[in-house]
Amino acid sequence: MSGARERARAKLNLSLDVLKTRPDGYHDLRMVMQSAGLHDDVYVELREGGFFLAETNRHYIPSGDKNEAVKAARAFFSAAGLDRGAYIKIEKRIPVCAGLGGGSSDAAAVLRALNTLCGRPFTADALREIAAGVGSDVPFCVEGGTALVSGRGEIIEPLRPLEETRTVICMPFFSCSTPELFSRIDSRSTSCRPDTAGLVSAIGSGDVRGVARRMYNVFEDVLDRRSARAVGEIKGALLDAGALGAAMTGSGSAVFGLFEDVASAERAAAAARGLCREVFLTVTAGAEENLTIG
Ligand code: C5P
Repeated sequence: MSGARERARAKLNLSLDVLKTRPDGYHDLRMVMQSAGLHDDVYVELREGGFFLAETNRHYIPSGDKNEAVKAARAFFSAAGLDRGAYIKIEKRIPVCAGLGGGSSDAAAVLRALNTLCGRPFTADALREIAAGVGSDVPFCVEGGTALVSGRGEIIEPLRPLEETRTVICMPFFSCSTPELFSRIDSRSTSCRPDTAGLVSAIGSGDVRGVARRMYNVFEDVLDRRSARAVGEIKGALLDAGALGAAMTGSGSAVFGLFEDVASAERAAAAARGLCREVFLTVTAGAEENLTIG
């Protein structure tokens, strides 16, 4: 049986601001999100109704209903009114629990793949609506690129694509708990906020330096002391090597920097290696074309 292949790209938060708690317990966010070249490879085949399995090259990732990719497949068939199943194979490269949206991006890739395999029953907007039911970061990952994202994560305003920019992504030796960071944000007033309007305007004028200068994530302010020190050290190493800007992505703990040239990005990657579990030398990436690549 023939299947469909998709790239599931990591997402970076060029900015992340938490506006307020919502009645449903989630938070209203305002963030500028950016896709990266670093990606997982996702392969999907249609199966008989009731069969759902997601195999990965990471033994600690669940293969059943706890996997966001399986949740996405179930949500797709439920919305389409189809009694079908799916076999999903994921070659993971994006670190988990990193704030890089790996699981969300895999889920979005499954939605794109199933839409292709089932004769495109859904528009991109409809796919994003299904995605919102799977997880907060999944709607952005359906198309990716550069976007202003708000609400719980379901309101996507595409922005001018950022020119391809050298990026170094660093995965520290620790992970952060997303609900824990949200609860710390709740229990204190945020004094520093990203200049989201200035960032959006810099993106609109293609000013990569202006973008990098304004990168800011409010979760960095509520890290515990050890994590804050580790993140600070990694950012320092990236900036010392010539990064135009550096920030933590999502609820961490991954940190990334943007660079003007390959030489400084390579220097930064080498400097960060001693401080991190994994370091990736990559680029910023545009939106998925035609919502499928295979
Ligand atoms: O939607 P998702 O499962 O990715 O969210 C993970 C956790 O992050 C939620 O349980 C919630 O604690 C927090 N969250 C939030 N507000 C958002 C997105 C996530 O409070 N907009």
